[in-house]
Amino acid sequence: MSTPNHPSEAFDENPGTARRLLAPRRHAPGSPVAAALTRRRSKRRRRLTNVAGLFAGLCLMGALYTTIVPGAQAAGDTTTAAGTAEAAGQAIYNRTCISCHGANLEGVPQRGPSLIGVGAASVYFQVHTGRMPLARQGAQAIEKPPVLSDKEIDQLMAYVQAHGGGPTLPSGDLRAGDLAQGGELFRLNCSSCHNFVGEGGALSSGKAAPSLKNADDLTIYTAMLTGPENMPVFGDSQLTPDEKRSIIDYVQTIKAQADPGGAGVGRIGPVSEGLVIWVVGIGVMMFGIFWMGSKA
Ligand code: HEC
Ligand code: HEC
Repeated sequence: MSTPNHPSEAFDENPGTARRLLAPRRHAPGSPVAAALTRRRSKRRRRLTNVAGLFAGLCLMGALYTTIVPGAQAAGDTTTAAGTAEAAGQAIYNRTCISCHGANLEGVPQRGPSLIGVGAASVYFQVHTGRMPLARQGAQAIEKPPVLSDKEIDQLMAYVQAHGGGPTLPSGDLRAGDLAQGGELFRLNCSSCHNFVGEGGALSSGKAAPSLKNADDLTIYTAMLTGPENMPVFGDSQLTPDEKRSIIDYVQTIKAQADPGGAGVGRIGPVSEGLVIWVVGIGVMMFGIFWMGSKA
């Protein structure tokens, strides 16, 4: 057994060697060798403190520089960048939106609602889906290819956001949700207008809930956040950001799925699909039977 029987044996195995290695070689005090050694040692110590002081000073300078100077620079950059985006947005607004939404976003009676407080999210949704700038008054603004570029939309968003605030765009992965929960929430909150699989459907007064076929993640998110036209607003207290992400995950997943059973009957579920097969199938069979009977 290699374990020592007595605990102290483990430590005191070779006490002399350890002490001899650690201790500096001793000289008689007062001897010239000892004096020279002390002098050399104190000199070395002084040099070391100097180097350490210099190093600490440099570190402090560096830290001060990184915390103060570039921070101030970056802050300056963003404020000016936001300022120019906002100014550019105002120019676009004055050119394309002012006639219906007013000089100060306050809205124009019979032409367009106030945009104060609608936020960047609403501007994104409306302009990105081509609904705005509205070409013609109708039951509902229709979706069309966007007229403005992404950069111009960004600038418009900056302008509207700076004058009244409102919901802003989300960030991160918009599909980072729970697929099953998304399906449940979609059937509960959205299917009454958009159909069970997002194919859309008619509403009253010439309005319609569009198909979600072409909607990208951010469009779905901003639609929920701002509730265009007849669509209710699903604010963060109605559907949390995570629940919104689950719904987006669901909508985009079912869009990508092929119909497993051949032609989808509006994908309204197995019972109704069975019913269609039953009625149509029996009908065809009865027709065949009667046709054969009449021949005979
Ligand atoms: C011809 C008139 C007209 C023009 C031009 C127009 N809009 Fe609109 N806008 C409307 C009307 C009417 C509505 C409300 C109907 C709707 O939402 O379908 C509306 C709604 C909106 C909304 C939704 C407001 C809300 O409550 O969420 C936004 C955002 C918007 N417009 C932004 C713009 C922007 C930005 C432009 C310029 C690029 C623009 N509009 C140009 C008439 C117009
Ligand atoms: C009361 C009916 C109604 C409900 C409920 C509803 N929507 Fe809508 N939705 C609409 C209408 C109407 C529009 C068209 C608005 C417009 O054109 O201005 C729309 C538009 C949209 C769009 C824009 C589509 C596109 O391509 O431009 C998306 C995305 C959308 N809805 C998603 C949802 C989601 C997700 C839910 C559930 C959380 C939901 N909607 C619930 C009526 C509804």
